Amino acid sequence: MASEISFLMCAPDYYDVDYVINPWMEGNIHKSSRDRAVQQWEQLHQILKEHAIVDLVPSQKGWPDMVFTANAGLVLGKTVVLSRFLHKERQGEEPYFKQWFEENGYKVHELPKDLPFEGAGDALLDREGLWLWAGYGFRSELDSHPYLAKWLDIEVLSLRLIDERFYHLDTCFCPLKNGYLLYYPAAFDAYSNRLIEMRVPSEKRIAITEADAVNFSCNAVNVDHIVVMNKASSGLKAQLANAGFQVIETPLNEFLKAGGAAKCLTLRVTEPVQEEVHANVSVESRILRLEGHLLDSGLINRSLDLIIDKGGSFQVLNFQLGVQRQSTSSADVKVSAPSHNVMEEIISQLIDLGAVDLPQDERDAKLEPVVQSGVAPDDFYVTTIYSTEVRLFGSWVKVHNQRMDGAIAITQTDHGIVAQCKLLRDLEIGDMVVVDVQGIRTVRKPELREQRNSQEFSFMSAGVSSERRVELVVEQVAWELRKVRDGGGKVVVTAGPVVIHTGGGDHLAQLIREGYVQALLAGNAIAVHDIEQAMMGTSLGMDMQRGIAVRGGHRHHLKAINTIRRYGSIAKAVEAGVIKSGVMYECVHNHVPFCLAGSIRDDGPLPDTQMDLIKAQAEYAELLKGADLILMLSTMLHSIGVGNMTPTGVKMVCVDINPAVVTKLSDRGSVESVGVVTDVGLFLSLLMQQLDSLTSPYVSKVGY
Ligand SMILES: NC(=O)c1ccc[n+]([C@@H]2O[C@H](COP(=O)([O-])OP(=O)(O)OC[C@H]3O[C@@H](n4cnc5c(N)ncnc54)[C@H](O)[C@@H]3O)[C@@H](O)[C@H]2O)c1
Repeated sequence: MASEISFLMCAPDYYDVDYVINPWMEGNIHKSSRDRAVQQWEQLHQILKEHAIVDLVPSQKGWPDMVFTANAGLVLGKTVVLSRFLHKERQGEEPYFKQWFEENGYKVHELPKDLPFEGAGDALLDREGLWLWAGYGFRSELDSHPYLAKWLDIEVLSLRLIDERFYHLDTCFCPLKNGYLLYYPAAFDAYSNRLIEMRVPSEKRIAITEADAVNFSCNAVNVDHIVVMNKASSGLKAQLANAGFQVIETPLNEFLKAGGAAKCLTLRVTEPVQEEVHANVSVESRILRLEGHLLDSGLINRSLDLIIDKGGSFQVLNFQLGVQRQSTSSADVKVSAPSHNVMEEIISQLIDLGAVDLPQDERDAKLEPVVQSGVAPDDFYVTTIYSTEVRLFGSWVKVHNQRMDGAIAITQTDHGIVAQCKLLRDLEIGDMVVVDVQGIRTVRKPELREQRNSQEFSFMSAGVSSERRVELVVEQVAWELRKVRDGGGKVVVTAGPVVIHTGGGDHLAQLIREGYVQALLAGNAIAVHDIEQAMMGTSLGMDMQRGIAVRGGHRHHLKAINTIRRYGSIAKAVEAGVIKSGVMYECVHNHVPFCLAGSIRDDGPLPDTQMDLIKAQAEYAELLKGADLILMLSTMLHSIGVGNMTPTGVKMVCVDINPAVVTKLSDRGSVESVGVVTDVGLFLSLLMQQLDSLTSPYVSKVGY
């Protein structure tokens, strides 16, 4: 018997499944047999007594789960951090465990109220005692981890649990002697798996199958080379034998009904302190304020879900509910993350949702210089489409040229400090770039409730429109186009060749002719097919009138390209009278600027197609300046490119037959975007009909 090792157990005198606080308990209320439970517990007790000392804490009537002593607290040396149970069903166990620890000479630390931590169920020492693995996600709060590090003077590595069947760390993770680790990787998020892989070399990691995991093979007690567990597959036993361990199986299925097995039924109360080990914890916390119509806009839910989804945890410290119909609410939220990287990820997304620092916590943005042309410092803040401000020398400075996927460069000019979004390739040595996520905020106007409901683009609130709603959307887009045109505004169209194939070319040409389009951004293909149609009546060899393939027609588009190449440009071909109709003709004729951006797929290309993509991006950006509305017509490539360059505030209508494309483009978290899932030819035809009826309301009324 290794007498220096002691465990604490509690006899199952009052054990039963009385309530449901984990998935294992579901369907098992009062279904466990007391006799069998006693027998199984006795057997485990006996096995452990052969290898260690076992102390008992008296069982208490009314607290059936007290048998799971792993949740009494976390012991290191003569110090214990007492559990604070999440569920009230177990909170009554706390004083009994506290009494036992005090009577046995332990220094007891108690966490603040409302900060759950479930003891050695969620915190497992590396068996060499070098660090502590601490779980969070279901029962214990991430914010408890810094307390563990401080009170136990040990490094804490936070692991996030994501499978509710494995709600405590000890249900899916078991450090073994000599640096081995038995664990079920699928119970952890990607970040945690990376952390485990960084700390435990692959030859020491024993990853178990789901079948073993649900038999609670990780819920094992390790004493020297012995591993005691409910059950293990022959494969697992062989793996453990290879690593020098002997598995002792002891049936514990009566306790599995409550979600526990060997490890849950025991608490190792002798854990030697390693003198060379000291406190270290990478958990970070930050308090942010959210303001706006937090409840009815769903902003609070989205923010809190985001924190959890990204691997953090939160506490709402203060919630001020707007009492009047129009007044806004505010919430101060403490965000915790297991590492600085995760914190940055969470905060940058919360910033997008409009979260700001508390006024007293506001700090200047951190800046780092560019030391290699076209390369940002590692930790640079990646810009989004939302209007952004950065805090410099105590004042908030607006960021110019807002766009997605850039860096914020700060320059000192004669007019003062200028902050602007720059693409990586445009960064110059000496530019100061905003790094980290400090001193950055996005500017969101909280919409009034009425506004939200009466937005011209209010159909957006329903997200992507399906076929049934297309007509309604068309009506609203037509109305918007008319408003922008008559108000001297700017509409930019980006369109793919499908527009021509589906017979939408004539309608798009009409839109241009009637002054609804102020710039066209497209690729080589739409221009080629449009010109082919104008010159030969076919698009990719299809007769557009009769809808049938023309013999030898597939050569038509190359001939069209060849002709334009002979003239030197589309404009020259129009001038020469070679092209007399179509989208490109109307652009040239009506002085509507266009940019054709090249791609690897391009035939020819046309002389107008800009094959230098950096130049093409710059031309796109120039033509997009001042846009009020962007109509994206069946081109994933160009629409996504345009979407990334466009800040919020610009209305976008994306038409595509593929819902995934539409969702990607319209899901910008703002009411200005709308997606329409439909055939683009049909959409354009309906749009022109609607615009015509707006022009002549009388004619439309009499059903002309
Ligand atoms: N001959 C050529 O030179 C040639 C030919 C084809 C494409 N290209 C070039 O390749 C690049 C990508 O082409 P792209 O933008 O056509 O491809 P893309 O795949 O980026 O976009 C086409 C989109 O059209 C959608 N679509 C298909 N049928 C539709 C319909 N009936 N109604 C509505 N939406 C529909 C698809 O779902 C898709 O999202 C462009 O730069 C283009 O100029 C060149």
